[in-house]
Amino acid sequence: MRAWGDLPGDDPKPGDDPKKDQADERAEKEAALEAAGIDLDPAPPGSHRHGDETHPSDHVHPHVHSGPDEPPVIGIVGAGAVGTALGVALTRAGWPVHAVASRDAGRRERFSSLVGVTRAFADPEPILDEVELIILAVPDDAVAELAGSLRMYSGQAMIHTSGALGAEVLAPAMAAGTQIGAFHPLVAFADTERAVAALRGATIAIEGDDQLASMLADMAEAIGATPVRLAPGTKAAYHAAAVLAAGGFIALLDAIAELGRVAGLDEAGSLAIYGPLIEGTLGNARALGIRAALTGPMTRGDVGTLEAHLATLAAYAPGVLDLYVAAARREIDLAETRGALAPEASEKMRELLAAALQARPEPVP
Ligand SMILES: NC(=O)c1ccc[n+]([C@@H]2O[C@H](COP(=O)([O-])OP(=O)(O)OC[C@H]3O[C@@H](n4cnc5c(N)ncnc54)[C@H](OP(=O)(O)O)[C@@H]3O)[C@@H](O)[C@H]2O)c1
Repeated sequence: MRAWGDLPGDDPKPGDDPKKDQADERAEKEAALEAAGIDLDPAPPGSHRHGDETHPSDHVHPHVHSGPDEPPVIGIVGAGAVGTALGVALTRAGWPVHAVASRDAGRRERFSSLVGVTRAFADPEPILDEVELIILAVPDDAVAELAGSLRMYSGQAMIHTSGALGAEVLAPAMAAGTQIGAFHPLVAFADTERAVAALRGATIAIEGDDQLASMLADMAEAIGATPVRLAPGTKAAYHAAAVLAAGGFIALLDAIAELGRVAGLDEAGSLAIYGPLIEGTLGNARALGIRAALTGPMTRGDVGTLEAHLATLAAYAPGVLDLYVAAARREIDLAETRGALAPEASEKMRELLAAALQARPEPVP
């Protein structure tokens, strides 16, 4: 933004036509004031302008309307992983995205070329003059502040894509006749095309009052996903499980790859070797249930094998110890519920796990 000190000076400019010089100078000053965010002709209180027209602030927006049987006019704030993939999926499904807001010119351009939006803005505010459904696809921590800086017009709805936040975080953006909701796809958005494909068959958790929820359910179905409504108060648990299934599983894979390196495998080698074992285990769990799918030394009470693993971890992969111990404790609990584990064996294994954590050298500060 331009500072006052940067405004054009008052010194007369040399020229043959002093009137033209004055007009040029005035235009230059006005442009500088506008660039500095100063409105020289503010709309009266309770109203706002579009071009030369002045409207009362509570008149119905946006100025782009969908037809009676058409999807709403959509705008997405945030051209990151979720915003872009959702934009692509919606547009391909016949729910075109009209506008995008992203502060980053590169991301804005990428979004526009992939999604084919009509309007692209650096700031989110202008989107409110353009669309009926505003999708905030910004980081969880930015949602509340962003909602607090926006004010919807009657007839509009705003949703976010966070799994961690409830729809109520959008309340500051509400005005009479507006609605808020949430649309959380249970997909790991690591790559745009892979995420668009993964949306087909994925679950999307929906929040909103009945009218909005019904529209969001149609939107989820249009992109091939299954809409679900969660019971009140359960969203955090639902999302924590999703975080374990996606990021938590990647942490587990990383630990597997670290141990694979000790055995001489690179990452691709580990994925090639342990991938089928993981897929087989998932298949077993689907077919037999989680408890019945448990295999390994903890189910048999193989204390000697556990001891060997803990010694190797301490020597060659100490960073994996915490995860191994946490998983082993859970496996022992599970094996006990199957009734197949001798109590002495489970007790001995728990002692070994506790001792391994205690023997671990203190991390260097
Ligand atoms: N990633 C996933 O797998 C996943 C899955 C389901 C749900 N979600 C949820 O979807 C939301 C977006 O996640 P994401 O992974 O797409 O994040 P992301 O890739 O980091 O993209 C976030 C976008 O929001 C913009 N942004 C950041 N801070 C902002 C602010 N203060 N005001 C306005 N815009 C801001 C970013 O910057 P620019 O404006 O500079 O472009 C970017 O375009 C989150 O609520 C997340 O929990 C994520």
